Amino acid sequence: MSRTRTLARDPLSPGLQAGMVQAGASVIALVPVLAGLDVSLAQWALVQGAIAMRIATLCGAPAWWPPLHLGFTPALVWAQGLAVAPLAWGAAFLALVAVYGSTLRTQVPLFLTARAVREALGVLLAPERGVRFIDLGCGLGTVIAALKRARPDCEFHGVELAPLPFLVSRWRGARAGCRIQRRDLMSIDLGQYDVVYAFLSPAPMPALWAKARREMRRGSLFVSLAFAVPGVEPHETIRVAPGERHTLYLWRM
Ligand SMILES: C[S@@+](CC[C@H](N)C(=O)[O-])C[C@H]1O[C@@H](n2cnc3c(N)ncnc32)[C@H](O)[C@@H]1O
Repeated sequence: MSRTRTLARDPLSPGLQAGMVQAGASVIALVPVLAGLDVSLAQWALVQGAIAMRIATLCGAPAWWPPLHLGFTPALVWAQGLAVAPLAWGAAFLALVAVYGSTLRTQVPLFLTARAVREALGVLLAPERGVRFIDLGCGLGTVIAALKRARPDCEFHGVELAPLPFLVSRWRGARAGCRIQRRDLMSIDLGQYDVVYAFLSPAPMPALWAKARREMRRGSLFVSLAFAVPGVEPHETIRVAPGERHTLYLWRM
């Protein structure tokens, strides 16, 4: 087994950093207005976006943030001019919060395991009977519901933090015979499971690996889709299809 390396974490979450960049740029962009220049809202938004992009670049934000900062406030101003009922904006905002709100804390957005990978997981389980399997961050419950249909002899559990995906997975899980809980995956005792499956992001992997090593039983299997544990060689790597998004990393504990 190779050594484990824990990466230093940023002191501020990306969401908070982005908020601070936007707030700072908004204040700086007010200077010409306070100096008495005649600036329209659209012009102010463009200047604000350019300043926000520059601040993000100077702060060393990952490559996708500066263009997002550039477009954020101009997009807000543009959207204000659309003939959309305020209630529709409110509903869209609430739906986004219910799906992605917890991402600000977890740094793990919702995206789904591809069908080909679900089938590969089924093949992995094939020789063993009565397996206890958990999907950490089960999203819409697609993985465990599909596996339960294929393998009714096994137990499939899921945990999900985001409210709307949890409700969907709960409904889907109930129909398929899976147990779904609204819990933080870091609060689950992994020692109860034969197979622990995670499709998350690079952010939680070091802490999750440390937890898996503490709690998982000898011989049980830790499987991560797309995200390897930094500095820890997997025992097996399965490329289901080209691209990282379809690569399974397996560690036999
Ligand atoms: C990339 S999605 C994967 C969804 C599903 N496992 C699949 O493969 O289709 C990751 C999910 O994990 C959830 N999640 C992230 N951090 C979590 C945490 N600490 N506790 C519970 N769920 C979490 C997110 O809300 C998101 O729905």
